[in-house]
This record gives sequence, C-alpha cells and structure tokens, in this order.
Amino acid sequence: MTTIELPVLQPEPANEHTSTNDGGHAVYVETYGCQMNLNDTEIVQAIMARHGFRLADSIAEADVVLLNTCAVRDNAERKIHERLKHLRSWRKRKPQMVVGVLGCMAERLRRSLLGEQDLVDLVVGPDEYRRLPDLVERAFAGEQGIAVKLSRVETYDDITPIRTQGISAWISIMRGCDKFCTFCVVPFTRGRERSRPLESIVREAAQLWDDGFREVTLLGQNVNSYRDPDGQGDFADLLAAVAEAVPRMRIRYTTSHPYDMSDKLIETMAAYANICPYIHLPVQSGSDRILQLMNRHYTVAQYLERIEKIRSTIPRCALSTDIIVGFCTETDEDHRKTLELMETVRYDGAYMFKYSPRENTKAWKMGDDVPEEVKAQRLEEVIQLQQQISWEINQTEIGKTFEVLVEGPSKRDPAQWQGRTDTNKVVIFPHLGTDQSYIVGDYVQVRIERATSATLFGTVVAG
Ligand code: 5AD
Ligand code: SF4
Repeated sequence: MTTIELPVLQPEPANEHTSTNDGGHAVYVETYGCQMNLNDTEIVQAIMARHGFRLADSIAEADVVLLNTCAVRDNAERKIHERLKHLRSWRKRKPQMVVGVLGCMAERLRRSLLGEQDLVDLVVGPDEYRRLPDLVERAFAGEQGIAVKLSRVETYDDITPIRTQGISAWISIMRGCDKFCTFCVVPFTRGRERSRPLESIVREAAQLWDDGFREVTLLGQNVNSYRDPDGQGDFADLLAAVAEAVPRMRIRYTTSHPYDMSDKLIETMAAYANICPYIHLPVQSGSDRILQLMNRHYTVAQYLERIEKIRSTIPRCALSTDIIVGFCTETDEDHRKTLELMETVRYDGAYMFKYSPRENTKAWKMGDDVPEEVKAQRLEEVIQLQQQISWEINQTEIGKTFEVLVEGPSKRDPAQWQGRTDTNKVVIFPHLGTDQSYIVGDYVQVRIERATSATLFGTVVAG
C-alpha cells in the first residue's frame, strides 16, 4: 500500500500579528473556485480591515492584490497562471503594488509560486490568513513572504466575515476534509477536518437575520461530519438549532457526502419548514468499481437507497450532484453505468467534470489512462443527458406556484427580478405582477409560465 505524505500540521493556531496599516493601503481580493473560497475571501477582507486596510473595488484602486485560488482541477490553476501574466502589466504601472496568492493553489505549490512573472510577493495557505496583514507590511518593505502551515484547530470562529452579497450569506461551519477521495487534493490543501462550536454558529445566524439577511448556507467540505467541539451535537443537531433560532430564515447547506447522509439528518430536514428541500449529493460515478477506486465508501445500491430515503421523507426535495468522467481505468461500460444512474435518479442539476490528475493524491499514482478525446466525448454525453433531464423536470413546474425569495435584478435583463425557490431553482419574473410592490428580501408567490433547463419564468400572483 502506498502511503500518503501529509503536509506539515501545526498544533496551535497561528498567533495573530498586531501590525496596523496606518497608511490605509487598499486591498483588492479576487476569488476563484468554490463557495468555501468566497467565504474565505470575506474572512480575509475582515482580517485586513481590522488592521486598517481599506477594501478596493478594483485593481486600479488597489495597493495590494490578492488572488484567492482553487487547485481542485488543472484548468483552475491554469487560469491563475494566466491571470498573473495579465497582472504583470499592472506591476509596470504600479511598481509598489503587492501581489499575493492565497488559498488551495498557494498551499499546493508553495515556494514555487514566489516570484512567478516577477510578481508574486506572498504565498499564503488557507489556515494562515491571520498572518496576512503582517506579511503584506513586510512585502511593502521588499520582503517576500510564505505561510502555508495547516492547522488542526483554526476555524476563524472569532472573525465576522465582511459580506457584500445581497441577502444571502455563507456561514463556514467546519474546515478541511478527512475523506481522502483518491482524486481529490482538498485534504492536502485544506488539511484535517475541524468544526466550529454550535453556539457560535447559531449566534452568527441570528445576527445575520437581524442584519437583514434572509438566507444562510452552512458550508463545509463534508458537512455531515460536523461535530460540535463544545458538546455532543452533530450536523443534524446544528441544523435544527439554526432552524429554531431563525425560523423565517431560509437555511441551506453544502456539501454532503453520501456515506454520512444519516436518517436523522434527512428527518431533521423534513421537520423544519425553513430548511430548504434541496440536497447536493455528489455521486461522482455510477460504477461500483470506479467508486471503490475513488475511495468513496458506498456502492451504487447504497447511494440509491439514500436517495429513496430522501424522496420518501421529503417528497419535494430537489437533488443535484457532481460527476467526474474519465477517471483512471474508466471503461465505456463504467461510463454507461453513470448515464444509467443519472436516468434512475433524475437530478434537478449536476456539476460535471473531466477527471484531472492531482499530484500527491492516490489516484495520481494510478495514472491517467483515459484519452482526452474520450473524456471530452463522455463529458458531452453526461451534459447532454443532464440538460434533457433538467429541461423535462422544469417543464413539470409550469402552472405551479412557488414561494420565491427576491434576490435582485436579473443579470440578463435588469428590468426583471431574479429569485429562487426553496428547491434552489432560479426564477425570473417582471417587476410588477400585482399592484403590490416588493423589494429584495421579500417573499413573493410566482406562477411559472415557461421553463428552460436552467431557469423558470413566471408572474407574481401574490406579494
Ligand atoms: N478532477 C476532476 N474533478 C474533481 N473534483 C474534485 N477533484 C477532482 C479532480 N481531480 C470534483 C468532484 C467534487 C467537486 C467539488 O470537484 O466532483 O465533488
Ligand atoms: Fe475532496 Fe472527497 Fe473531501 Fe469532497 S469529500 S473535499 S471530494 S476528499
């Protein structure tokens, strides 16, 4: 058996440095990747603001540019290298500008990123953000900085993220992942699993309601492994506690691992009207052989049994998934089983990816033997099938009326509103459907009139 080399772990949280930025330098953070990264950016902004930095809206205004990066697939990393190339021209115009790479790619590539494109001054991993103000100050003095230790305890529990996103907020409830799916770099870039105290999460949700937020998403790489470090509570207990503390807040969560999707959690979801009937349950593959190679800890039959339990307990529940095509040794037959599973479950939506080998993972050593054209063809097939299924499901919504939380103007047509159903479907509707007016954060009843595979369109029938 091959052993996996773990990154250096640190027993204590990094000490918070106390430097302040009296000059009021402006910092701009650009975010790539998952929702966890979006929330991390809000934490970074809070840390920087606490130390006297101003938040800039663009690179043009910024003295410090930080890229919060993703390493989950090679194309995510390629995008960052391209971005750094582009940022070089800014360095010519603003020689004093400090550039930092944060997040998973910083953790993975470490020192090799320093100086890339004659540009990168700082490399800071996901558990070292408290050191950023100090490292930035030193970078202004010409010193390069690297901080990539992973922690067993850091959760940034005491830091209130600076949120700029309308009425929906993310609450990070845990960090890291102990699952070690063989394809995934996350356990190496984000370290071991650790949870925030239940009480502190409930308090944050209550504060968010008072601040005008109407939807929270509890975030973690594998939320089902949540354990209250100060008590006995598991993720179902946390969900129930949040649902009770903010009874009119919409509560969502992501991401679940099918192996840990307990009856208790499903029953808790069913018991509270404000926990949204929507579950993102990544399956990755429809072939037992591939699932085993991926170290996913379930078979297709076990996965389908969980789906059955969800559907019988929460009949309205919408489901989405993640699928990887072209994992090592995947045959046409394995691929066919994935398509078959998709037809059996009939997901409302899916995120679909070509397998991308990541150094240090177990799968890296298994090789990458599915040719690129085959991966592309299989990806096309799963996308086509999912689009067809999503379209068919959405057609059945026509004529129904949904409670929609108004989120803001539609991106495509600002003359219309955009909102979502509790099942996470995007709904577009004209500004005035009745003589009542409504604003962002309101709930309205929208009758669906037409639908594409991605969007529902309707009219407000009651405010
Ligand atoms: N290649 C392709 N997709 C991956 N994912 C994670 N690692 C890889 C990889 N090496 C996908 C999985 C996961 C989602 C967040 O990203 O489907 O659920
Ligand atoms: Fe990666 Fe698997 Fe952990 Fe998800 S559960 S972050 S895919 S190792």
